[in-house]
Amino acid sequence: MDQFEKELSSYVGIKSATALSSGTAAIHLGLKALGVGKGDIVFCQSLTFSASCNPIVYEGATPVFIDSEYETWNMDPKALEKAFEKYTPKAVVVVHLYGTPAKMDEIIEICHKHHVPILEDAAESLGATYHKKQTGTFGDYGVYSFNGNKIITTSGGGMLVSNNEEGIQKAHFWATQSREKERFYEHKEIGYNYRLSNICAGIGRGQLKVLDERIAEKKAIYERYQNAFQDIKEIKMQPYLADSVPNFWLSAMILDQTCSYSPLQIIESLEASQIESRHIWKPMHLQPFYHSSDFITLCESSSVAEDIFKRGLCLPSDTKMTIEDQNRVILKIRNLFT
Ligand SMILES: Cc1ncc(COP(=O)(O)O)c(C=O)c1O
Repeated sequence: MDQFEKELSSYVGIKSATALSSGTAAIHLGLKALGVGKGDIVFCQSLTFSASCNPIVYEGATPVFIDSEYETWNMDPKALEKAFEKYTPKAVVVVHLYGTPAKMDEIIEICHKHHVPILEDAAESLGATYHKKQTGTFGDYGVYSFNGNKIITTSGGGMLVSNNEEGIQKAHFWATQSREKERFYEHKEIGYNYRLSNICAGIGRGQLKVLDERIAEKKAIYERYQNAFQDIKEIKMQPYLADSVPNFWLSAMILDQTCSYSPLQIIESLEASQIESRHIWKPMHLQPFYHSSDFITLCESSSVAEDIFKRGLCLPSDTKMTIEDQNRVILKIRNLFT
């Protein structure tokens, strides 16, 4: 277990890490380490998977959702700035969607100005870099997931990382049922069974060795799609910043406003050939559970997150897919447009 934590810390370049049973558990304990509790406000990117924000609610805090921008699909620094005019949050949860780094310079500057810590949800972006620095190492705490669908997997698992060694030790303590150092079982605080098993940690060590290879394969998949669709003006792949290198975990595309197909029509058309593609994450502010949560967007009448959700889709991106398999996906989509 310790070796997995050390090896991952050294890979991403951070002081300490604690291996946990899931990325969700890591977000939960990261928020607790930041002191998030009852009655607090926490800002969170709306365009994400529900695990980015559910732990805010576990702690009795209230999420306020922030809109995205079109250059990375992640938290819009301008919408974040606007949110600070209305609220004083306890923390900000930033996500690197589908492995594409967010605009961290701007986000960090705003959060520093307001003295508010960042929890970086890098569950999808292990190995992605921004200004040559690993995602997950910019925030006060960073989170990775080793869920079955992620770029490397332990079947289920996660990691909380930080340069704050004390904070990581505290998270480790909570994750092991908050058991005090006594001969008998003594608990002064609520605890959790969130530790990763040794077997899973062993798998994780093996997986870390193939991470760079996986990233190269995922990049090749993204670039094959990009090249194959470059003459179709209705299709654009998820963009990324010039000074960032995504891990290309999922290849996602967006359809032009003028496109006569909806993502659902493309998903169904692929499905007819036994090809699985998916919608973009449905933004959190549109989820029935979060219907009463506030959502901060630059323009009251439109939302970038909603627009990306309505026009985007995730393409098959598994590294087990052969070039022939991918060509079949490409041909099927090209036939719709040409
Ligand atoms: C953006 C994001 N955050 C958090 C998680 C949670 O990770 P886990 O499934 O390991 O709990 C996931 C993936 O599942 C995710 O995609």
